[in-house]
Amino acid sequence: MSYMDQALTLARQSLGEVHPNPPVGAVIVKNGKVISEGITQLPGGPHAEIMALAELDYQASGSVMYSSLEPCCHYGRTPPCTDAIIKAGVAEVHIAVLDKNPKVFSRGKEQLEKAGIKVIVSEFSPVVEQLYEAYFKFITTGLPFVTFKFASSLDGKIAATDGSSSWITGQDARDEVHLLRSESDAVMVGIGTVIADNPKLTARDSDGRLLDKQPIKIIVDSHCRISPNANVLTDDGMTLITCLEEQNVNKDRLKAQGIKVIETPSFNGTVDLLSMLSQLGSMGITSVLFEGGGTLASSLIQHSLIDKIIGFIAPCFIGGKNAPTPFDGAGFSSLSASQQVRDISVQQIGSDIMIKGYLH
Ligand SMILES: NC(=O)c1ccc[n+]([C@@H]2O[C@H](COP(=O)([O-])OP(=O)(O)OC[C@H]3O[C@@H](n4cnc5c(N)ncnc54)[C@H](OP(=O)(O)O)[C@@H]3O)[C@@H](O)[C@H]2O)c1
Repeated sequence: MSYMDQALTLARQSLGEVHPNPPVGAVIVKNGKVISEGITQLPGGPHAEIMALAELDYQASGSVMYSSLEPCCHYGRTPPCTDAIIKAGVAEVHIAVLDKNPKVFSRGKEQLEKAGIKVIVSEFSPVVEQLYEAYFKFITTGLPFVTFKFASSLDGKIAATDGSSSWITGQDARDEVHLLRSESDAVMVGIGTVIADNPKLTARDSDGRLLDKQPIKIIVDSHCRISPNANVLTDDGMTLITCLEEQNVNKDRLKAQGIKVIETPSFNGTVDLLSMLSQLGSMGITSVLFEGGGTLASSLIQHSLIDKIIGFIAPCFIGGKNAPTPFDGAGFSSLSASQQVRDISVQQIGSDIMIKGYLH
């Protein structure tokens, strides 16, 4: 594994945990040996480069640093990493990708170069772009990156006509979904899914044990119809209910229970999804894994609020004219108006197919 791959592996470990900080890993090498490593900490804590330098004193002099993201060069919650790298006497810095944060983009690199440090930026890599896709959207728009994950049969059904949907896909695909949850800042469903499936929305291993990193759970529920006994409220982890600003006794009950509520103006009597996502962004949530169902998916797609899809397609037929699909509602009226998905990748996971792609 290359030194940069080691830095990227470290970065991936902090996905879903350090938001709104970007996930960053750093490796310091001297005389052909890794002498130190670092991972970005929670907001207010040290960045990966500082973590890696912290263990070293004079040894950092003349070393080579590999960082998965351009080092910051401005005062945010912490001082600039570039100052610390220069002070430590690092001779060369390899960067996987420049930081699209307008306060940093190219400036971090320039500051290091001005101090006489050789800086090498890696060629474009889809793996690196994917690692930073959420952070880059968040830092340039203030909105979280939304990934729509669904599991369907070969005939495009996400549940049977009796409402049952557990489980359409096999264990391997479900493990993949739990990993996706643990790497996301938040998971989101509509109240229809909570009422139909009573999901826990926690990230678990195949034995049902909770993984170390748990996403915030978001329920889109205009009129606070959620039962106080719903698993998402009684189980581990933090849950946010998004509802309308208008007066509602159920909302008061939720607040009295200590549950955090996000309020939005009404959009045709339902939650204003753009207002909701802006508020989530203001709270520092950079990535949302949206897990259905088709009613809310339809609204999000119609409003161009989904960035990426991850569909798991199981080798079975469910059928039924009224069985739900990933994209319900009125749909697009003609093929020419249909929503295209680009940059597709396909992978077999157990006996299921995972298809990934981007909407915009
Ligand atoms: N296989 C899978 O991947 C999968 C995943 C999830 C669900 N499912 C299945 O899907 C079915 C549930 O589907 P569903 O469509 O009823 O659930 P949903 O999309 O999760 O929830 C729909 C509800 O969200 C609320 N909502 C609030 N704001 C909205 C907005 N702006 N636009 C649209 N909806 C908004 C609405 O209720 P209010 O107006 O009361 O707020 C709406 O009825 C179940 O059978 C479940 O098993 C399958």
